[in-house]
Amino acid sequence: MSAKLIRGRLLSFHREPVGGDERAFSYVEDGALLIRKGVIERAGDWGDLQGLAEEVIDHRPHLITAGFIDPHIHFPQVQVVGSWGAQLLDWLENYTFPAEMRFADAEHARQMAGHFYDLLARHGTTSAVAYCSVHSTSVEAYFEEAARRNMRMIGGKVMMDRGAPEGLTDTPQSGYDDSKALIERWHGKGRALYAITPRFAITSTPEQLEATGALVAEHPECYLQTHVDENRNEIALAAELFPDAPDYMGVYERYGLLGPKSLLGHCIHMSDREIGVVAESGAKPVFCPTSNLFLGSGLYDDAGLRGRGIHGAIATDVGGGTSYSMLQTLNEGYKVLQLQRQQRHPFEMFHWATRGNAVALGLEDRIGTLAEGSEADLVVLDCRATPEMALRADTVETLAEELFLLMVLGDDRAVVQTYVAGEQMK
Ligand code: GUN
Ligand code: ZN
Repeated sequence: MSAKLIRGRLLSFHREPVGGDERAFSYVEDGALLIRKGVIERAGDWGDLQGLAEEVIDHRPHLITAGFIDPHIHFPQVQVVGSWGAQLLDWLENYTFPAEMRFADAEHARQMAGHFYDLLARHGTTSAVAYCSVHSTSVEAYFEEAARRNMRMIGGKVMMDRGAPEGLTDTPQSGYDDSKALIERWHGKGRALYAITPRFAITSTPEQLEATGALVAEHPECYLQTHVDENRNEIALAAELFPDAPDYMGVYERYGLLGPKSLLGHCIHMSDREIGVVAESGAKPVFCPTSNLFLGSGLYDDAGLRGRGIHGAIATDVGGGTSYSMLQTLNEGYKVLQLQRQQRHPFEMFHWATRGNAVALGLEDRIGTLAEGSEADLVVLDCRATPEMALRADTVETLAEELFLLMVLGDDRAVVQTYVAGEQMK
């Protein structure tokens, strides 16, 4: 495979830019990436790299960063996003479960996978962690399409054996067996990684959570993803269903589901004890601002959790979330923090959607930066993509201002190009 040079303004973080720390990233005004076999072989000044490859793609004056990482999204909810008038539990029943039912059909799942990955590429998202439906067919479609596009994707079959309509449930045994077969088929194949996926405590019996715990113990190489402490009614129902548990987190704790590879969607309404459990286990909360606002779930306490040593990830949660754009997710996330007087610097926000999410996944040596040796997943951003952005850009004087403009006013229109393993995806 031949090499190529991608030229533009390069921005890459090598640590968290706390408070806007300018030593936490490298920025090259006229930079280039030498890409070979899907990997960033060299990153630096154009002047030092020119001539090293015949193919040159010139993206000046646009900004090149690591592709966005979306660590919580629902693949079978591509036709659910933007469904009116509900909070979590009735939204699941009225819109989500009927839509997910259709993923038993392999052809429908394949078709939706095509749309799903087109949307990710369009929005500059190069890796994601997704819930598939309860059906193995949906997982096959999800990973097959990812493999076709050579994307680093994480995902898994939802396990749920109660609280959902017939046609959308498994059993403790079939959920275990199907997940195991999918792990063996997909985990580590190409760029695919598997996430064991009990939907949440409401839709799993104690027997299923027990089987899930066994699966986690047998496959420590896999991720685990679930939802917790998103909505007050959900929390009350979890307490009814698990009367012996100290709290919602205690359910997952009891079945051995909490560790550094556990991704916990939402974590909005946690007790002091639950926060302590998360901190001790190394599990990662996932903040989903557009979803939390859309479903009226509540405000994620980022500063409070950081104060306890917990660094959450940030994600879209489409279709509870309302945008595939990680830029718009940062925008809404910023506002959620604003409401709590927790504003964060634009550098911190951009780091969050790229390297920060990679760190939460333990993948920062492979994705989330433009470091030499990293996989060449990139996004090219134009801060003048719309008339209102261009007007604002005329007055921008610093990189921080440009990033802030991109995340507040930008969306898929600001994405000029998306590269996956060095190949253009748009
Ligand atoms: N809790 C359980 N399932 C879901 C889901 O599909 N979306 C959201 N936002 N929360 C959930
Ligand atoms: Zn979710």
